[in-house]
Amino acid sequence: MGAPGVGKGTQADLLNQRLGACHLSTGDVFRAAGSRGECEQSPAMQEAMGYMRRGELVPDSTVWEMVRERAECLRCGGGFILDGFPRTLGQAESLKQLLDQEKLALTAVVNYELPTSEIVERLSGRRTCEKCKAVFHVTQRPAKVEGLCDRCGGKLFQREDDLPESIKVRLEAYDRSTAPLIEFYQKAGLLVRVAAAGSPDEIFEITLTDLKSRRAAQLAA
Ligand code: AP5
Repeated sequence: MGAPGVGKGTQADLLNQRLGACHLSTGDVFRAAGSRGECEQSPAMQEAMGYMRRGELVPDSTVWEMVRERAECLRCGGGFILDGFPRTLGQAESLKQLLDQEKLALTAVVNYELPTSEIVERLSGRRTCEKCKAVFHVTQRPAKVEGLCDRCGGKLFQREDDLPESIKVRLEAYDRSTAPLIEFYQKAGLLVRVAAAGSPDEIFEITLTDLKSRRAAQLAA
């Protein structure tokens, strides 16, 4: 969890590379669906694209349908990382019901924290690979060859919701709908707070150490 642009996707990608866990990013799923031709998109998906462009949250029912279609991710042998989901109390409650049915439990909910000014800086400079979705930053994490992905050579692009008008709406949506989840997961004893200032590798090491010690404590209990 964490505000837009705090670095959730970057950390999920690093965790995924190290742990071999399934990485389910609802934002990536929506963007992939949006890159298909309009006639291949369901009316619910076309509507979802409008919400995304404006920086608003997609309705819970559409998000939940996308997640349920990918529920096999939860049974991945290397575990699973949910990135950008849940984002409302309704989504968190639906997720809990599904996990209970599957007899699965979350190890932790990591909440990344950063001042708003740095978040805006990260979002404005972000560039994403159109093929493999790897994430770069024009100054903080530049690609070796400008405009091309280090990993697969794909073209880098700027997300349309990274323009100033959408950033403002996304930050407001986060404060209104997603920040209350912090208390929800705190009460469930799952919350891990990580200060997201520092390099991606530094933040990754802090995250991994925390997750490992929680996992060891859960296995010992
Ligand atoms: P989504 O794609 O989930 O976007 P987001 O939450 O707004 O988060 P971002 O992907 O923008 O940022 P991030 O925290 O992953 O940061 P990143 O690692 O890229 O969702 C997009 C939209 O889809 C939503 O607005 C909504 O409409 C819809 N949606 C998705 N899920 C939904 C749900 N569950 N319910 C309802 N609607 C939903 O990093 C950002 C930049 O910073 C990059 O350039 C990166 O290189 C750089 N960076 C990262 N870490 C560091 C560091 N440590 N130091 C310096 N730079 C760094």
